[in-house]
Amino acid sequence: MGTKITPYNKDKTSKKEQVAKMFDAIASRYDFLNHFLSLGIDIVWRKIAVREIAKVNPKMILDIATGTGDLAIEASRLNPTQVIGVDISNNMLDVGREKMKRKSLDKLIDMQYGDSEDLSFEDNTFDAVTAGFGVRNFENLDKGLSEMCRVMKVGGKLAILEPAEPTIFPFKQFYGLYFKVILPLLGKLFSKDNSAYTYLPESVAAFPSRNAFIKELEKAGFKEPKFKALTFGIAALYTATK
Ligand SMILES: C[S@@+](CC[C@H](N)C(=O)[O-])C[C@H]1O[C@@H](n2cnc3c(N)ncnc32)[C@H](O)[C@@H]1O
Repeated sequence: MGTKITPYNKDKTSKKEQVAKMFDAIASRYDFLNHFLSLGIDIVWRKIAVREIAKVNPKMILDIATGTGDLAIEASRLNPTQVIGVDISNNMLDVGREKMKRKSLDKLIDMQYGDSEDLSFEDNTFDAVTAGFGVRNFENLDKGLSEMCRVMKVGGKLAILEPAEPTIFPFKQFYGLYFKVILPLLGKLFSKDNSAYTYLPESVAAFPSRNAFIKELEKAGFKEPKFKALTFGIAALYTATK
């Protein structure tokens, strides 16, 4: 896999600590920035991911790297018994917990501190496991994916959303301009964290290619991994079973 991309290049702490620090710093503005900078398309992507896990009628759902819980909220529409969201950023979780209370979803959606690379759940616990725009931030991708597989039931469904670099004209060119020039500028302006929105395109570029990621999923123990390009290739949906 490529060079390790971290949010704060000069920082000597682990990628995990830096990622948690970065999301802690932008937590209060994350939801606004997310929808604003993606022009609202992220909402549609989460719906598409949830449509995939709906196929197994999941009762127990785990949302990894849940952040402020938007994917967990979308998944809660499937009438599950429980949705658990885990994240390593306490500030993101706090924003999420407030949101769950406001929406009266705090009983259904449990927002817990937890590291994807060392999950506290028993083997074969969840009917579906989701991760929205989080996997690329893992310090150890292999370990994170293996843990996600371990806690998923046989016959369960995995759905992972990730931003991607489009390869076709003119989206490739537009992506280059937007993600590498405009977005870091807007992100810096609104988030007050200089690193957050330069880390975004860098981490997307360093993420394994479609085929390499499919292989990572197989290596982690998932079966029938599939890829779907969303919105001209600016996002990717990976699904798999176990
Ligand atoms: C871009 S946010 C995505 C939040 C949410 N899933 C969404 O769709 O908006 C990525 C999240 O991944 C979390 N994260 C990164 N590494 C993690 C890990 N090893 N375990 C759990 N969460 C992690 C970060 O703290 C951050 O909240």
